[in-house]
This record gives sequence, C-alpha cells and structure tokens, in this order.
Amino acid sequence: MKVLLATEKPFAKVAVDDIRNVIESAGYELILLEKYTDKAQLLEAVKDVNAIIIRSDIIDKEVLDAAKELKIVVRAGAGYDNVDLEAATEHGVCVMNTPGQNSNAVAELVFGMFVYAVRNFFNGTSGTELKGKKLGIHAYGNVGRNVARIARGFEMEVYAYDAFCPKEVMEADGIKVVGSAKELYEVCPLVSLHLPATAETKGSINYDLLKDMPKGAVLVNTARKEVINEDELIKLMDERNDFKYITDIMPAAHRKFVELFPTRYFSTPKKMGAQTSEANINAGIAAAEQIVGFFKEGCEKFRVNK
Ligand code: 3PG
Repeated sequence: MKVLLATEKPFAKVAVDDIRNVIESAGYELILLEKYTDKAQLLEAVKDVNAIIIRSDIIDKEVLDAAKELKIVVRAGAGYDNVDLEAATEHGVCVMNTPGQNSNAVAELVFGMFVYAVRNFFNGTSGTELKGKKLGIHAYGNVGRNVARIARGFEMEVYAYDAFCPKEVMEADGIKVVGSAKELYEVCPLVSLHLPATAETKGSINYDLLKDMPKGAVLVNTARKEVINEDELIKLMDERNDFKYITDIMPAAHRKFVELFPTRYFSTPKKMGAQTSEANINAGIAAAEQIVGFFKEGCEKFRVNK
C-alpha cells in the first residue's frame, strides 16, 4: 500500500517521523512530496498511490483523474473546502478530516492576534487589556471551544453564536449565547471567526454585520478568507478608523488593505494557525492511523463525503 504525504506547507520533521512510523508499522510505504511549487508535481506523485495525506493542498477533479489507484484522502486538519467532495465520491474515493487535532494551536494564535491588536501592533503607545472585555466567538466548533477555554484565563466575558451547536452545549461551558450573528457583533467589540467556508458562509461577514460593532472593534480571522466580503470590509474600515482586522489568511485584496490601513490591518504571510509541532504531530498521526484503520478494518469514522 502506498501512502503519499503531499504538503505544500510541510509538517515539522518530528511529525513526519511519527507519520512514517505509523505507516511503516502497518507494512505500508510512505512517499513524501513536500514544498512542491507546481501542480504538475502533485499530478505526477499521485499516479500510483492508494492513499494521500494533505493539508490545505487542493484535491480537485484533475488530481483525482490522475490518481488511478486512490482509495482515500485524509485532510490532516479541520477544513476540507480544498477537496472536491463530489468528484471524490464519483471516483469512489473516501475523504476524511481529523477534527480537533490542531484546534489548540489555532486558538492560541487567536490570542496572540488579539493582544497584538489591542496593544497597537506593539508600537509602544498605550493600548488596552483583554481582561473584562466582551469576546464574541462566531461558530462554536473545536477551535471556538478552545478559544472560550483560553478566554476564561484572560477573564474575558465570552459570548458565542453558532447556527448548529445546541445552546445547552455552549451554556454548559459558561458561554453567553446570543440568538443571531447580528446580535453577537452588536454586543462584542472583539470577535473571533471560526466559520468553515461553505456556500452559505462565503462572503457572509459583510458591512451590515460589522457596522454596529462597539467602538475599538477588532475582528480576528483564523478561519477562511472566503467568509469575508472584502470590498465591504474595506468600505467599513474606511468609514471607521477604530476598526482593526487581523487575519491568518491573506485576503485577495491584501495590498489594498496594507496601503489603506497600515496601522489597523495585519495578515500573516502564510496561514500559520496550525503550524506547531504539536498540531502537526496530532493531525499527522491521526491521519496516518485513519488510513491504516480504513484499509485494515474498513473504518470510515470522520468520512466527510457521501
Ligand atoms: C484547518 O482547516 O485545519 C486549518 O485551517 C489548518 O490548515 P493547514 O493545515 O493548511 O495549516
């Protein structure tokens, strides 16, 4: 059995060693394609493999067409908007993710970003503290839950809105649950986004939603760039010079944001929320074990396509 680890943004070496250990202990072969720069390299590498472990790497119809022996793709991470699920189903390929394995890493980065924002990008001027402030968590999944846990250490007042998570689950974590996204943004000056990129959420963070955020607003995005309506965010930041946007996913209009809002906008050069050894190890081992379980026991837990 051949397993390809295809990561344009590589895992830490220690995680790759752990993945190799799981794969080889099962009697399988691990093939590495790291830091590739061209889709052609991926198309060549997938030709005769039975399984692929990826991160945000794009698995589209062309890749699936080229991978004649492929049975399973595991996205070592949470979001699987980079995989064409329909095409995978048509090709008889099982797609899985590894939910929760990198959530703490992303949640810790959220606080690095909030502190950076409220301390004025570390420019030496007097900023504010997080203690006692209202934090809004938009979508209460694995990362949202970890953000709530860490926020308690900062003694923040934590609010959340999630269209799918039962109110009781959030309340059991001591969260103040609001009835709509609109209400969350009206109440909280600090909001952390944790929405997946879906047909419903794309462009949903728009002018109307953001315009009533309290003074000194900070929006932190460690989710996906697609959920933001960038033109409307620019319009809003133009009108409100108290509004800051900090993101781990560089917007399409990055240059415009830098030019217009140099002291109120920051983007990491490359998504780094899940870039810790711990998250790499957790997600990498989980992905490798899920592949072994799939082939040896027919286990399809964490399957995300039909
Ligand atoms: C995820 O969906 O798990 C995160 O966005 C991390 O993505 P990455 O593996 O590309 O860093």
